[in-house]
Amino acid sequence: MLRDAAFAAMENAYAPYSGFRVGAALLTTSGEIVAGCNVENSAYGETMCAERVAVAGAVAQGLKSFQEIAIASESEEPAPPCGSCRQTMSEFAPDLRVTSYARNGKQITWRLAELLPEAFAPDHLRGRM
Ligand code: THU
Repeated sequence: MLRDAAFAAMENAYAPYSGFRVGAALLTTSGEIVAGCNVENSAYGETMCAERVAVAGAVAQGLKSFQEIAIASESEEPAPPCGSCRQTMSEFAPDLRVTSYARNGKQITWRLAELLPEAFAPDHLRGRM
């Protein structure tokens, strides 16, 4: 289950600075699951979020078509993805189904287009939008 893959990835998070562990699991349209976790750095700005790690891992495997992402964190409330992650996910799946799970079982599902309306998209570069 995608949720379980996200919580399993959260166990691998490297978050010694924030103490906030995040896991993400992407489901491709062909059924593969690619997971990611946040990877912090002593140079704080180099930190990578779980969602972007998952997207980069998938793309590196040649997978660029996604139907859903599950996000798991230790928060009391389901944590929405940050702005940078929204933009990165939007590149490949502008209306991705995004479900975030809190430790206590709470969950929220959004569509990415609702989280990032008026997203900058590849077509803007070509003057087509
Ligand atoms: N984090 C994520 O992994 N995903 C998000 O969408 C928001 C924030 C991570 C980055 C950092 O390691 C920690 O959570 C605290 O911001």
